[in-house]
Amino acid sequence: MRRGVLVRVIAVGLAAAAVAVAVALLVPWLPTPASKEADRIDFVFWFVTAICIAIFSLVAGVIVYAVVRFRARPDDDSDGAPIHGHTGLEIAWTAVPAALVTAIAVVSAVALAENDHLPKHHMRVNVSAQQFAWSFSYPKYKGLTVSTLHLPIHVPIELKMNSKDVIHSFWVPQFGQKQDLVPGITTRLVITPKRLGTYPVVCTELCGEGHAIMRSQAVVQTPRGFAAWVKAQEKLAAQAQGAGGGPGLVAFNNNGCSACHTFKPAGSKATTGPDLDNLAADARRAGKPLAAFIQQSIVDPNAYIEKGYQPGIMPTTFKTLPKDQLDALVQFLSQGQK
Ligand code: CUA
Repeated sequence: MRRGVLVRVIAVGLAAAAVAVAVALLVPWLPTPASKEADRIDFVFWFVTAICIAIFSLVAGVIVYAVVRFRARPDDDSDGAPIHGHTGLEIAWTAVPAALVTAIAVVSAVALAENDHLPKHHMRVNVSAQQFAWSFSYPKYKGLTVSTLHLPIHVPIELKMNSKDVIHSFWVPQFGQKQDLVPGITTRLVITPKRLGTYPVVCTELCGEGHAIMRSQAVVQTPRGFAAWVKAQEKLAAQAQGAGGGPGLVAFNNNGCSACHTFKPAGSKATTGPDLDNLAADARRAGKPLAAFIQQSIVDPNAYIEKGYQPGIMPTTFKTLPKDQLDALVQFLSQGQK
């Protein structure tokens, strides 16, 4: 190849590379990683992107040069010169992609293996999904169960996940991983939070009418902040116990009620469903005695829809709640209503 040709191909290639690099870097394609695992996934992503940009530049350089240099002139009706295969070129364009694909496979396998590795010192959190709520329980803290995932920074976390009904999928974009929750089997995910903050927990598997609202939050805290949060939650549970609401509070949290409803005795502040601190007034509007109204609203939620809310959002699966849990819930929700 003559030197002039090479210079032009390289110039076009560099221009294409500049555009591709700008598109890759100036657009915020990925959320800022908040876990070590997300860092590794990002590394694989950028590794592949860099290879793609290099190949794109090479191809763009050669194509643009060839299109311009060898275009047919208006007065040119001659045939192109006959060409034969070029063994050196064919070996190169087979060997180079094979090497690149192998490199991508190795880098991906290493990242996946590292992301799957659970260090000996870790904390376990059980994740439970159901239409349309998340609940998180901490075996380390006597099964403390909450609807918002709190995690201490830099501690490897093993999430053990179960679904009570259909397939859901756990996703915190800033943690970089998704994991399905499948009824009947336990799936797992390792997360090592490395950045303080509050991130969305999203259900990313279409699971029914309320799929879009099946969200929670993951809060990454300092060790001290996390310890204070655990203490506050334990105090809340003890208070409920003292007020006779122990099993009721447990049922309330285990069944994900706190993910959608505000209820002061449970310390929940969610606003997807009606505020349960006003159940007495709701029962009067529905024309039913309080306890009967609460029970009906749990097992047959579409029987009475509070103004401003829609039918079909609250799951109808609670009709299968064991009687003792249902009774405890009704009693817990009845307390303090006027
Ligand atoms: Cu659960 Cu979508």
